[in-house]
Amino acid sequence: EDEAYQKTYEKYRDILPTLPKEKGWLTEYLFQYQGFWLSPGAVKATMLVQHYFRAQPTDIFAATPPKSGTTWLRALIFATMNRTQFELSTHPLLTTNPHGCFPYLETFICEDGSISNLDTFPCPRLFSTHIPYSLLPAESMTGVSGCTFVYLCRNPKDVLVSKWIFININKSRHKQLPALSLEEAFELFCQGTSHYGSFWEHVLGYWKASLENPKKILFLKYEDLKNEPLVYVKRLAEFLGKPFTPEEERNGDVEEIVRLCSFENLSSLEINKHGEHRFNSEYVVNNRDFFRKGQVGDWKNYLTDEMVKRIDQITEEKLYGSGLRF
Ligand code: A3P
Repeated sequence: EDEAYQKTYEKYRDILPTLPKEKGWLTEYLFQYQGFWLSPGAVKATMLVQHYFRAQPTDIFAATPPKSGTTWLRALIFATMNRTQFELSTHPLLTTNPHGCFPYLETFICEDGSISNLDTFPCPRLFSTHIPYSLLPAESMTGVSGCTFVYLCRNPKDVLVSKWIFININKSRHKQLPALSLEEAFELFCQGTSHYGSFWEHVLGYWKASLENPKKILFLKYEDLKNEPLVYVKRLAEFLGKPFTPEEERNGDVEEIVRLCSFENLSSLEINKHGEHRFNSEYVVNNRDFFRKGQVGDWKNYLTDEMVKRIDQITEEKLYGSGLRF
């Protein structure tokens, strides 16, 4: 096992300098790997997932483009799947940030040696990932006999604003780099050079796969979830093979999960006001930075008319004929 890891790691070191690169958001560069723009760490993680990760057909993935509601989706999946196990008054989400409830595949797999621990995880295993659909190993993860995915995406204007503010407030951009202005961030995003981007290709990959394989991929939009949380949490539970029973519905269990995972509730908890989440030794985020406004349409406070026009046009062109709209 260690040998396989070492081999991939050496391959990564060889391949990285040969990849096309562009200005990065957090690190100096993003690299284009198999059509998508990834940080160096994400290239390594994706290669490890491709060569080394052993998926199980029962695995469940919360898949998202960054800043599309990953924190929320993680909380909802965790709470829904484990609802008979925990009392509300002592629920782990009251004392653990949603990112700590189950592993983020990319950072987990990069931590040497920890991969073998995965085999001991209870079934079904839950993971979160940003890896684009087409980059996941076809045999074990995608396709008819592959894993289950819940995909959550969001209007690209809100994603851009959320992302730009996130890298500025949590100071995760490398210190020796100059600050990234909104204009620069906008350009990079529109060109597709954002983490795991292009954003539109990320969304389209999962969208098309969800049409071909609706039993394996549930495609959700942040805006819909915000509008009708009860409808979508019920759908989520059904999709994951754990539909709410009539009794649970009568008890208000769906409402309870929605409330537990709501922005208002999670962001007011001590752990999310003052705690931090350590993705790995280099990347630590203050939990409060995962919760900013949690609203639809905050882009109106940041983007100029011209920016809006341009990004809307890109969205229209990219999604044309796909049946998907934002
Ligand atoms: P804003 O920056 O627009 O407020 P991610 O979790 O993928 O990093 O996405 C972050 C975005 O999701 C942020 O958006 C954040 O405020 C919002 N968010 C976090 N928790 C949420 C929740 N429980 N409900 C709704 N939105 C949430």
